[in-house]
Amino acid sequence: MCGIVAYIGEREAYPILINGLKRLEYRGYDSAGIAILQDDSIRLEKQVGKISELEKVIQPEQLRGRVGIAHTRWATHGEPTVNNAHPHRDCTGNIALVHNGIIENYATLKMMLQEKGHQITTDTDTEIIAHLIEELYQNGTSFEEAFRGALLEIEGTYGLALISKYEPDRIYAARKGSPLVVGVGENEFFVASDAAAIIAHTRNVLYLEDGEIAIISREGFVTKTIENEIIEKKIERIAFDLERIEKAGYPHFMLKEIYEQPRTVADCMRGRLIEDEGVTRLGGLNPILHNVLRARKIFITACGTSYHAGLIGEYMIEEYCRIPVEVEYASEFRYRDPIISDDNLVVVISQSGETADTLAALREAKRKGATVMGIVNVVGSSIARETHGGTYIHAGPEIGVASTKAFTSQVTALALFTVMVARTKTMSAEEGRRIIKEMKALPQKVEQALQSDPIIQEIARAFKDKRNFLYLGRGYNYPVALEGALKLKEISYIHAEGYPAAEMKHGPIALIDEDMPVVVIATRDSTYDKIVSNIQEVKARRGRVIAVVSEGDDQLNDLVDYTIPIPTTLNFLQPIVSIIPLQLLAYHIAVLRGCNVDQPRNLAKSVTVE
Ligand code: G6P
Repeated sequence: MCGIVAYIGEREAYPILINGLKRLEYRGYDSAGIAILQDDSIRLEKQVGKISELEKVIQPEQLRGRVGIAHTRWATHGEPTVNNAHPHRDCTGNIALVHNGIIENYATLKMMLQEKGHQITTDTDTEIIAHLIEELYQNGTSFEEAFRGALLEIEGTYGLALISKYEPDRIYAARKGSPLVVGVGENEFFVASDAAAIIAHTRNVLYLEDGEIAIISREGFVTKTIENEIIEKKIERIAFDLERIEKAGYPHFMLKEIYEQPRTVADCMRGRLIEDEGVTRLGGLNPILHNVLRARKIFITACGTSYHAGLIGEYMIEEYCRIPVEVEYASEFRYRDPIISDDNLVVVISQSGETADTLAALREAKRKGATVMGIVNVVGSSIARETHGGTYIHAGPEIGVASTKAFTSQVTALALFTVMVARTKTMSAEEGRRIIKEMKALPQKVEQALQSDPIIQEIARAFKDKRNFLYLGRGYNYPVALEGALKLKEISYIHAEGYPAAEMKHGPIALIDEDMPVVVIATRDSTYDKIVSNIQEVKARRGRVIAVVSEGDDQLNDLVDYTIPIPTTLNFLQPIVSIIPLQLLAYHIAVLRGCNVDQPRNLAKSVTVE
């Protein structure tokens, strides 16, 4: 996501910081900024867009100093504007900090700080931290105590680096849930969210763990817990090459993004589950809540993977909210003059927020008087700006062209939406609580599903040379079959089709022979017995079956060629877990076939033309 670089030492900070930021560009960002301690003040420069844009507004000779922090922002709270770019300061401007992560209780803290007279000038959650430290420091504690005290009040995740006029020869750094590494040089130190930013200067690093802080001067550093317990950290030597670091050690961005999913699913739910009341909260819908709740019909429109997430949304919303839902490709929706009235809600789903057809569908829906809501990853993107309200999925930048983590987060966001609406209708608090409990367990279940990687690699080796694949699923797992097939064709160039399992006998069954692998999602749910019959139909025609099954289910072992066990959850949440092995299968087959996994031929990450 966002990137942090900080420097303290004998050299000029600016070139080190700006070059460090450039090393983080691959992570995706929308704005950037730098703060340097100069004589008796903090000099700050920020800019929207590329780092080269930031360089254009900076005259290095005027930004001299040997202590500084820098940041590339990927917006989560507040649009990508110069004002919202980091570093952020307190009221006096004596503290400047950069932050990665999400502060969950920022709205409460913001209110408290405003009541005490703090002037909050940005839409970010980050600015709150600077004011909170200022507030505690004004109350007479030491600066370090104020820093730790603020961290103790923050709920959520952070990796942060801070400079202040109060202690001009120090950098404060802290980590909880967002990585931070301290680079150790000769009379100089670096802080970065990613070793790629500092590897040009040192390979000696120490990694902060959650709940730890580092107080760094030119002479050395102290590491302790937020609760003030000193800890000795081991300095490690990084042996990785740069490219591997950028991909966090994974050979491809796609695999990195697949493996990020336990975290990205958790990030999507962060601060949005209220277990006691059995409800979910989506703050971005507040401006349109009235229209959302009174909607008599919902349309969902999107393209590609986002469309598949929409299909799952249809099943969820109809099951729990009992509102009729229609899902349509944005390219069709925009031209076919759909019947929409002002008591309809149109949900547009887009990772990039820039897909031309989806944007046009959104505009068409608005023209016809509907309330339009977005489920978007990229904050401040065109779709996010033009919808009446919406929710961000907080998956972080997705670099692999084939969408993976955005999909699971889109489905998670749709589940949050479903519970939010259903609780105003017939869903009881008790059922809400039961669902939220299951939602909380999802990251762990996704993690477990990732552990089937070795068997999936074996399956990939066995089937990599096949020319066709069929994917079958029923109920909530039918869109998962479509998405699994899409992943395979996108990156391995093998023809693959997804079908509702029972529909197979109306056509695709004619294709089945010993050369046709059939991937069946056969987790234990109400359609299980039916899908077992479908598997028998395939086997009777000598098809090869790869079944994704519920952990502990041995019933299919003798019937199918391979089983991939995954954890089960509530039916409507199951796609978030079921898709994981299918993403991995597509990935491994593509790698074995020597395909360019991250940038498949003919495809674009963001399709901004019709
Ligand atoms: C392109 C991408 C897909 C994506 C689709 C919709 O085709 O290659 O991965 O699912 O666009 O993109 P969006 O950004 O609107 O979700």
